[in-house]
Amino acid sequence: MDKITISVIKADVGGYVGHSSMHPNLVAKANQMLDEHKKKGLIVDFHVTHCGDDLDLIITHRHGYDNGEIHKMAWDIFIEGTNIAKELKLYGAGQDLLSDAFSGNVKGLGPGCSEMELEERKSEPVIIFAADKTSPGAWNMPLYKMFADPFNTIGLVIDPSMHDGFIFDVLDIFENKTVRMNSPEDIYDLLCLIGASEHYIIKNVFKKDGLIAASTSTQRVNLMAGRYVGKDDPVMIVRCQSGLPAVGEVMEPFAMAYMVTGWMRGSHWGPFMPVSVNDANPTRFDGPPRVIALGFQLANGMLIGPRDMFADVSYDLARQEANEIANYIRRHGPFEPQRLPLSDMEYTTLPHVLKKLKDRFK
Ligand code: F6R
Ligand code: MG
Ligand code: MG
Repeated sequence: MDKITISVIKADVGGYVGHSSMHPNLVAKANQMLDEHKKKGLIVDFHVTHCGDDLDLIITHRHGYDNGEIHKMAWDIFIEGTNIAKELKLYGAGQDLLSDAFSGNVKGLGPGCSEMELEERKSEPVIIFAADKTSPGAWNMPLYKMFADPFNTIGLVIDPSMHDGFIFDVLDIFENKTVRMNSPEDIYDLLCLIGASEHYIIKNVFKKDGLIAASTSTQRVNLMAGRYVGKDDPVMIVRCQSGLPAVGEVMEPFAMAYMVTGWMRGSHWGPFMPVSVNDANPTRFDGPPRVIALGFQLANGMLIGPRDMFADVSYDLARQEANEIANYIRRHGPFEPQRLPLSDMEYTTLPHVLKKLKDRFK
């Protein structure tokens, strides 16, 4: 059977209201355009969603990684979305489109993208995660827990088909180099890197036999643009079951509202709150950062679903925990550790302040 590719391509092309959510007209436009491409046969299926002010296009097709036509289609949708955003004067219209013209591939142009080409198994449960008000390092801890931590994933211990462990590709985002690491053999080295989640980002996870298991988006809009244009708000694709972590093992890491970078002005630490799509509208101090999870069964490339995976009462405590942590850490105001260290902030105000104070330093 032909391979199927899942492409999750996203951009913030205008917020409603401010940076807090998505105007329904943008979702409707994306649905309409993707439907036309589906009818013409370019794509197999699609689902449009949003997390906060980010428009997430979930697409299945048979054209493989980095396909020009698929990326151009997504780019055109973001352009149309930008036009609507301009008409309605939505906030930051076109903010993630860093170039005026498309050039072959959305990578480097602003939108975030995670893709996975796979041979559909007898049954293929996948979960698409999308986040707002944080950076791609946010996936490091949950991916480690899913694929390498027996306290999260009991399958690593008791399922013979998982007992060999997994392979992690880790990207150094400053050097733009990738290192391949094995779990459990390399876990201390692996943690040494991915614990620095603003520097090293897990890009892909594979089974030891090479089967692709997870893939993340690794763009850093702020690095690409060389100036602050907004957090990159990552997405991730994870396959589940039958020798991979079970759906519940993939979901389990999010039962803890762990800390991620982002939130207000991309310059704060905040708790990662797992929410249903309906609650993915970060409002308090532009946050706290949100994550949604949509589950699908693939059927010959058709996206059967979605199931809104965090619309489950068993995440109520994580949301409560996130609200309590948000309350506590907010009270630090402009002080670290609520505010990020200078090196990780998306604002570079210090040089201006130092320049102004130059003559007053004695
Ligand atoms: C964070 C984010 C928002 C903005 C903030 C200020 O990723 O997008 O928190 O940084 O609302 O936005 P401006 O500078 O556009 O007024
Ligand atoms: Mg925005
Ligand atoms: Mg956003």
